[in-house]
Amino acid sequence: MSDTGQLGAELDGLEREALEAVAQAADGAQLEQARVAYLGKKGSLTRVLRAMGGVSAEERPVLGQRVNEIKTALADAIELRGTGLKGEARAARLAGPQFDVTLPGYGQPSGHVHPISRTLAEITEIFVSYGFSVAEGPEIEDDYHNFEALNIPADHPARDMQDTFFIDGSDTGRDDLVLRTHTSPVQIRVMETTEPPLRIIAPGCVYRHDDDVTHSPMFHQVEGFMVDRGITFGHLKGMLTAFLRRIFDRELPVRFRPSFFPFTEPSAEADIGCVLCDSTGLQKGATCRICKGTGWLEILGAGMVDPAVFAHVGYDPEEYTGFAFGLGVERIAMLKYGIGDIRLFYGGDLRFLSQF
Ligand code: PHE
Repeated sequence: MSDTGQLGAELDGLEREALEAVAQAADGAQLEQARVAYLGKKGSLTRVLRAMGGVSAEERPVLGQRVNEIKTALADAIELRGTGLKGEARAARLAGPQFDVTLPGYGQPSGHVHPISRTLAEITEIFVSYGFSVAEGPEIEDDYHNFEALNIPADHPARDMQDTFFIDGSDTGRDDLVLRTHTSPVQIRVMETTEPPLRIIAPGCVYRHDDDVTHSPMFHQVEGFMVDRGITFGHLKGMLTAFLRRIFDRELPVRFRPSFFPFTEPSAEADIGCVLCDSTGLQKGATCRICKGTGWLEILGAGMVDPAVFAHVGYDPEEYTGFAFGLGVERIAMLKYGIGDIRLFYGGDLRFLSQF
C-alpha cells in the first residue's frame, strides 16, 4: 500500500509539473521539449510506469489507469497550447510592421529582339507587303544547288568569288556538301518545285571563310526573286528603290551599276547615298570614313535571272523572265544603326544588345 501511495503522490506531482511546463511553453520548441520530457520514451511518466514492477497485482490496474489519465490530459493540454501558440504568433505578426505598399516594386528585366532578327523582320515585312512569300532552304547545301544550277560549274573561276566551307565527306560518303555561301540556292529549290508566277524572299544564314570587322564567317542574307511573263529590269529597279527607301526610312538616292554574277544577266550592284555623310563624301570637313568620300555605299547584288538557270529548273526562258537580288542583313543593320564592328552582333554583350 505504501508503494502505491508513494507512486500515486509522485504521479500527482508529475501531472501538476507537466501541465505547468506546457502552460509555460513560450513557443513550439519549448512545447515539444515538454512533450519529450514527460511523454517521451525516456520521459518521467515512462519512468514511473517502469517502477510499477514492485506494485501488487490488485493495485497495478488502478495506477495504470491513473497514468493513462495523465497521458491523455497532458496530450490534450499540449494540443491546446499548440493551437494557442500559433494564434499568438499570427497575432504578433499582424501587429508588427506592415508591408509598405508604396515601396517601388522589383523590376523584372525583360529580354528583347536581337538587332539582326529585328532587321530581318523589317525586311521581310516590307517584301510581304509587296506580295512576296517567304521560303527557306537548308544551310548544309549540295554543290549542285549552291553552284552548279546557278551557272557556276566546277573549276569555273567564278567559284573564287565565294570562300567556301566544304564539308568533309569521309564519314557520310558525300563529298558534294558545303555550308551554303549565299541564299541563291533557294531560288533553285523553289523553282524546281513551283511553276511561275512567283514572288519569293528567302532569309537565312550563310557561311564564308571570311573574318574581319565587316565580315563574319556566318552572316545573314535575304534573297529575293520574282518570275512571271514580262518581268523587266524596270520592275527590279522600282521594287528595290522603294524597298531601300523604306528600310532606311528616308528618300535616299539609289543607283545601279553594271556588275557580274554567273546566275544573272545583266547583273547589277545597287548603291545607296551614304547614310553617314548624306552623300556629300565629307564628314566634319574630313573624308567620310564609311563611303571613303565617294558619297555611295554598295548595298546589294541583283540582276535578271540568267536563262541558263531557267534551263536547270525546266522553265522556258522564251516564256518567262525574272529578277533576283541578294542583300546582307548585317550590312543593312550596321548602316541603319551606325555599328562599326560586325562582331558586336555575335558577342552576346548585353551592354551592346540592350541598346536596340
Ligand atoms: N548571291 C549573291 C551573293 O551572295 C547575291 C545575288 C543574289 C546577286 C541574287 C544577284 C542575284 O553575292
